[in-house]
Amino acid sequence: MIERVDEQPLAERNDNRSRRPQSQAFKKFMTQSWGDVEPEPGTGARLAGADSAAARRRRLAREFPGDRLIFPAGQLARRSNDIDYRFRPHSAFAHLTGLGLDHEPDAVLVLEPVEDTEAALGAGEDTHEAVLYMRPAATRDTPEFYSDARYGEFWVGRRPSLAEIAAQTGVRAEHLDQLRDALAKDAGQVQLRLLREADQAVAGLVDQVRVEAGAPPWDPAADPDRDPDAKLAEAASEARLVKDTYEVGQLRLAVAATIAGFERVVRALPQATAHRRGERVVEASFETGARVEGNGVGYDTIAAAGPHATTLHWMKNNGPVRPGDLLLLDAGVEVDSLYTADITRTIPVSGRYSPVQRRVWEAVVDAADAAFAAARPGNRFRDVHDAAMVVIAERLEEWGLLPVTAAEALTAEGQQHRRWMVHGTSHHLGLDVHDCAQAREALYMDAQLEPGMVFTIEPGLYFKPEDLAVPPEYRGIGCRCEDDILITAAGAENLSAALPRRAEALEAWMAALQP
Ligand code: GLY
Ligand code: MN
Ligand code: MN
Repeated sequence: MIERVDEQPLAERNDNRSRRPQSQAFKKFMTQSWGDVEPEPGTGARLAGADSAAARRRRLAREFPGDRLIFPAGQLARRSNDIDYRFRPHSAFAHLTGLGLDHEPDAVLVLEPVEDTEAALGAGEDTHEAVLYMRPAATRDTPEFYSDARYGEFWVGRRPSLAEIAAQTGVRAEHLDQLRDALAKDAGQVQLRLLREADQAVAGLVDQVRVEAGAPPWDPAADPDRDPDAKLAEAASEARLVKDTYEVGQLRLAVAATIAGFERVVRALPQATAHRRGERVVEASFETGARVEGNGVGYDTIAAAGPHATTLHWMKNNGPVRPGDLLLLDAGVEVDSLYTADITRTIPVSGRYSPVQRRVWEAVVDAADAAFAAARPGNRFRDVHDAAMVVIAERLEEWGLLPVTAAEALTAEGQQHRRWMVHGTSHHLGLDVHDCAQAREALYMDAQLEPGMVFTIEPGLYFKPEDLAVPPEYRGIGCRCEDDILITAAGAENLSAALPRRAEALEAWMAALQP
């Protein structure tokens, strides 16, 4: 078993709430006379995403012939004392196994090179065999069953067996106890590559194995380009840039659940305006649905009313929601497979935009439309942002807010328009809300768009209440319009098109939800 190097064992933590009996009679009695437990429906059934995960493993592994590739799921993260956060596996682990939801703390996916990699490469066969090392459910004749609050079934419910996980993923499953030997085998000859950020304990183990095999831990300061682990993280991130059919299907589910959440929020606006912390009412009504229909939210909800909308990531959500103000709602449901949506609308709390609110909102939607027109195969990712910026700069010029012409502002030396939109227009979207974050610039910002890429288009304009560079009527108005876009062979599909965007359409949609 791996030693949890960064964790204080549970047994050593203070427990002032109870003392477990230590008598032999208790211990013996606790391990006896238990019948079988019915598995939850679906346990042991092959996952819907198992085949597409297998194809992703095959593609990624071929980039590293002969190397041992190590992808930890990660550890349970401590919230306080003996209370952990709900478990969410590292996204690369989920991507390569198809395991989402709460699977599986401490598990490690190892892609082990086959004996004759050259032959496998030549024949187009698998260059690696996948093995999943995990901590299976302990049997009931062990104290773990009743005494381990992290892993014991008495505490956390039924846990999967090795056979069940193998059946679900199509990957051979072994006990975590076998991991050290598996990593150490021929470690002098085999290049080990680890997704280091996922689990510090596994990182410690891999470092030990490397030292024992005569390969000292790599020194990033001395040689940044040859870091075998960074290269794997980069490749795992880049492997997610193009989504397959299964993934697009999951993203569609996430978007649909998110749109349902926006509708719930509109229905809850009367309660929100009646409460001193109306933003919390908004957050709670969105997140109730997210948790009921999916795994939860893909990031903390931004429920920003009035001037809070000018704070880009306002997540305190503790302010009032006043009639006459705008409400910026930036929210996304993460479904059980862990794919998330990321959608924003800025709506009038009263149901009608004021003239200046409408002017700003429509400008942002115009910018989004320009970006959308640039989102097609062959164009570069950065072209999408540039197209949105032309519209933003031109509107600001029209309104007399720019200190220079729009053309001057749009030069590299200018950029004055960015005072009111400091963020980018787009980011990839998938298992992480900011997906593929470690991909190289050439494959992200500078990349040509390809069918299967999914990203946001989210221009905005933010006039802070204390912004003396704009007339008072603009101050305190913040707008963002964010949709989730799939690049197709023919161009692009707005996955969130079912949610209205234009001011009039949004007003009609709100009216229909608040009869
Ligand atoms: N919700 C975070 C973002 O839009 O990027
Ligand atoms: Mn976003
Ligand atoms: Mn967002």
